Amino acid sequence: MKKIIIAIDGFSSCGKSTMAKDLAKEIGYIYIDSGAMYRAVTLYCLENGLFNTDGSIQEEALRQQMRQIQISFQLNPETQRPMTFLNGKNVEERIRTMEVSSHVSPVAALDFVRKALVQQQQEMGKEKGIVMDGRDIGTAVFPNAELKIFVTASAEIRAQRRYEELKAKGQDASFEEILHNVEERDRIDQNRAVSPLRKADDAILLDNSHLTIAEQKQWLKEQFEKAA
Ligand code: C5P
Repeated sequence: MKKIIIAIDGFSSCGKSTMAKDLAKEIGYIYIDSGAMYRAVTLYCLENGLFNTDGSIQEEALRQQMRQIQISFQLNPETQRPMTFLNGKNVEERIRTMEVSSHVSPVAALDFVRKALVQQQQEMGKEKGIVMDGRDIGTAVFPNAELKIFVTASAEIRAQRRYEELKAKGQDASFEEILHNVEERDRIDQNRAVSPLRKADDAILLDNSHLTIAEQKQWLKEQFEKAA
């Protein structure tokens, strides 16, 4: 069977990563969470004082430091789940905090950040056999991907899922705060000048508001079998 590129885009917290990760595992493809890369750059900014007190980014400083930000992935040997590394340190848990979620979209709107990360993502997909999820995978990173999916669900349902996820991890967050964050990220992601979030013309739309994880998984597997 020929190897293909699978691009899964969509709104924040709509379960893209779960379905992408599960499919990759089942079909023996590499899974790349492109959002983790934007989150890792954001964590770097937070740790290195690159946010001003008003929340704006010290763009020039970040531009100069971009080359020293190294992001990589490794599989957790026990769980087989991917872990994100920033300059050699495992930051998988830290990049999922509300603090990073509420700072990431402005960082991801910077053209030089996108250029650097998109280049790395394209490099990762050179050999195909990859499932990548994000916001611009089908439109900008791999416009020729053989299978493109665009996932959506209502903001309330997405916020509820995220709330349950954070609560299960023992993190403190209110439903209202999460809903606000989800809506705010959608707004910034859709309205930015560079590669705004939008469905590629040839992407298949999936509204998973009322689907279980198992139903989604099955649906995606069928799309893969048709495309491969
Ligand atoms: O996918 P996740 O929600 O973890 O992504 C975090 C943020 O990174 C998004 O809200 C978006 O601003 C940005 N992002 C992006 N392009 C991608 C993936 C994520 O702009 N391909």
